[in-house]
Amino acid sequence: MRQGIGRGIGSAFGAALMAALATSAATVLAESGPGPVEKQEQPNPPRQEWSFAGLFGHYDQGQLKRGFQVYREVCSNCHSLALIAFRNLADPGGPGFSEAQVKALAATYKIKDGPNDAGEMFERPGRPSDYFPWNFANEQAARTALGAAPPDMSLLAKARTYERGFPLFLIDSIIQYQEQGADYIDALLNGYTNDNDLNWNEYFPGHKIAMPKPLSDGLVDYPDGAPKTVQQYAKDVAAFLMWAAEPKLEERKRLGFRVLIFLIVYAGMLLLVKKNIWSRAAAKVSLDRGSGPIDAGIDG
Ligand code: HEC
Repeated sequence: MRQGIGRGIGSAFGAALMAALATSAATVLAESGPGPVEKQEQPNPPRQEWSFAGLFGHYDQGQLKRGFQVYREVCSNCHSLALIAFRNLADPGGPGFSEAQVKALAATYKIKDGPNDAGEMFERPGRPSDYFPWNFANEQAARTALGAAPPDMSLLAKARTYERGFPLFLIDSIIQYQEQGADYIDALLNGYTNDNDLNWNEYFPGHKIAMPKPLSDGLVDYPDGAPKTVQQYAKDVAAFLMWAAEPKLEERKRLGFRVLIFLIVYAGMLLLVKKNIWSRAAAKVSLDRGSGPIDAGIDG
């Protein structure tokens, strides 16, 4: 009798649950039917292969040189690179220019200096210790000329990233994926897929970017025979910007590797020490077993 009531209540509850599920499913279906078209979010930049990725990552000197050329001939018309000095181009782990090349390069720039004895500012040829000058007097002037202020490029590859979401952001920290910024810059430069609108970009949030398509095939003349395509330019300049944002990347990775080796050896040594100490204690315990409580054996 009691069982029968229980079963009755059970099936009534089950039926109610099914009915509730059915109605909510129907509502969901009805709501997802034809309606206002949602604005599409921009897709995630595709992941690229980079020489500087991974535990043993290092910059490809040839690529940095080409990337610098793209920066110098194209991007520097609008973007500043305020935290990089000419001499940095000769730093170890960088594009690998010689001191003489850097000196010659710096001299091609005009640097505002002063005031002189007469209290006036003047222009002089650049020196290796000077920082890259900017074409615009200030941010406001750039904004007026271009419609939006072009961000400084020194840290851009580290400052721009995108949401990877769960669970990718957890996996990224395990597989050491740290190239989101370079991937984004590469995707952005390849993302001008609407030929009728040079300010439409697939990867820019909202798709409308104030920077008109900056690259086109054949624009930069590489002396080393690398392909003169937008794809190649984009990859090279993204790598160069990664170096600008993290010039000590190679050093950091080298040190990280050494620390890992040290920790592994240290853990092994600790294990041996632990075994050594406890083997003596264990021997004592087995000797004293039967003659009294174990604790007394260890203490005595
Ligand atoms: C004609 C001027 C101009 C040139 C040349 C130019 N840019 Fe830009 N860039 C801009 C402006 C303006 C913005 C700001 C866009 C905005 O906020 O809508 C910008 C923004 C960017 C951004 C940031 C996008 C973001 O997510 O905020 C990146 C990255 C970038 N440029 C890379 C480059 C690279 C690399 C080059 C050289 C290949 C280059 N730009 C050449 C004007 C330029």
